[in-house]
Amino acid sequence: MSETTTTTTPTPQWGPERLRSRIAAELDRTRARTALLADAVDDDELMRQHSPLMSPLVWDLAHIGNQEELWLVRDVGGRAPVRCDIDELYDAFKQPRRDRPALPLLPPAEARRYVATVREKVYDLLDGVRFTDRPLVTDGFAFGMIVQHEQQHDETMLATHQLRAGAPALTAPPPPEPRARVTGEVLVPAGPFTMGTSTDPWALDNERPAHVVDLPAYLIDAAPVTNGAYREFVADGGYDDPRWWSGPGWRHRSEAGLTAPLHWRRDGDGWAYRRFGRWSAVRDDEPVVHVCFHEAQAYATWAGKRLPTEAEWEKAARWDPATGRSRRYPWGDGDPTAEHANLGQRHLWPAPVGAYPAGASPLGVHQLVGDVWEWTSSPLRGYPGFTAFPYREYSEVFFGNDHRVLRGGSFGTDRAACRGTFRNWDYPIRRQIFSGFRCARDATVEEARG
Ligand code: AVJ
Ligand code: FE
Repeated sequence: MSETTTTTTPTPQWGPERLRSRIAAELDRTRARTALLADAVDDDELMRQHSPLMSPLVWDLAHIGNQEELWLVRDVGGRAPVRCDIDELYDAFKQPRRDRPALPLLPPAEARRYVATVREKVYDLLDGVRFTDRPLVTDGFAFGMIVQHEQQHDETMLATHQLRAGAPALTAPPPPEPRARVTGEVLVPAGPFTMGTSTDPWALDNERPAHVVDLPAYLIDAAPVTNGAYREFVADGGYDDPRWWSGPGWRHRSEAGLTAPLHWRRDGDGWAYRRFGRWSAVRDDEPVVHVCFHEAQAYATWAGKRLPTEAEWEKAARWDPATGRSRRYPWGDGDPTAEHANLGQRHLWPAPVGAYPAGASPLGVHQLVGDVWEWTSSPLRGYPGFTAFPYREYSEVFFGNDHRVLRGGSFGTDRAACRGTFRNWDYPIRRQIFSGFRCARDATVEEARG
C-alpha cells in the first residue's frame, strides 16, 4: 500500500474545508485498497466462497457500497436511493456468511459500477454538507465511520485471500528486521488510568465514554508471544494436555482436532506456514498469528501466566506515568507512521519482535499496535454510560459472554481503524483472523513495590 504523509484523524477544532479534504483523502485512500483486494483475482475467484467462515469477496465489495449508500447517500445526504432492491442481500444480519454464495449477488462488473456510483454521489454531497451539531455529522463522524467500515471489510477480504487455495495474488515487501532486543515482562504499577475516550471524533460507540479504571500492579509481556515460544508449547505436548485448557477450550480443541496454529504444517522436524499462497519455514522471532482464544489461553496457562484483561492491555498501551494521561497510541497522540507500527497491509505478515522500537509505550511495551490482534480475557461489554450510536447492530447486539475482545490491530488493519481505544471482538474459537496474543500475570508483593 502507498504511504501518505497526511494524518488521518480530524480534531474537533478543524474548519469545514480542512475536514472536507481530509474526508475525501481518507475515502480515496481506502477505496484504492478495496480495489487492490478485489482486482487481485479474476471474476470466478471473486464469486466463489473460499471458506464457509467468509463471504465471497464480491459480497464484501457490494456490502461496502451498500453501507455507504445507507448512511451517507440516504441518511446524511437525504438523497434518493441508488438501488433499494439490494439492501436485504447485503444486510449482514439477514444473510449468514455461509449462505452468501447462494444469493443472487451482483456480479463483479455490476458490483464495481454500484460502489462507483455510490461514491460519486458521496463526493457530490460532501461538497455541500454542513458539519452541524447533529451527532451523525459533527466532526464528519458518519464519513469516518464509513471509512472505518470499509477498512474493516478490507481486512476481512485480506483474511479471505489468506484462506484462498490458488496461486499467490498479493505481494508486499517483507517487514523490517529487529532494531532492538526486546524480552521479558514490564511492570505496570498499581493505580488508576483513563480507559476509552469521549473526545476522539471518529471513535466508535463501544470506545466511549472515557472512564477511570483502577488496576492492581501486574506484569505484561514486553512483546507478543513468538512462534519460537509457541513452538515449545506444541513440542511439550501442550495440545494434548487438558491441564492447560479451559473446559470449553479442551472440548473445542478435541472436536476441531487442533494441533498447531491455522496454516501451519510439519516440515521435517520443524514447521512451515502458508502465507498468501506461499509456504516458508516458520520464523521463531515473529509473533504467532492465526491462533484462537482457547489456544492463547492454554499457552498462557502452560507458561504460568494468563491473558491480560482488556483494561490491562489498554493501560499498558496508553498510560503515561510522567503525566498520568492516557495517550491515543503507545508512542503518543500522533497518527501511526511506517516507523511506529506494522499496519495497513504494508507487509503481509507480522514483523519480528524488536522491529518497531519507535512504537513502544512509555513503560517499554513493544508492538502493541500492528502485527497481530491480541486476544484479551475480556468479554465484549459496554463501558459505564454506553449509548449505542448510530445503530445497535454495530456493537451493542454483540455485548455479552459470547465474544472476546481483541486489541491493537494487525498488519492487515488500516491506521484509520486502529487506535489505543479501538475494540475488536470475535468468537473464542475463531482463528482465520490475524490473531495472536501476549501474556500477563499479577505482580507479587515484592514486584509491586517496583
Ligand atoms: C468489529 C470487526 C467484528 O467485521 O464483523 C463490519 C466490523 N461491523 N461490518 C466485523 C463490522 C459491520 C466487525 N468487527
Ligand atoms: Fe459490514
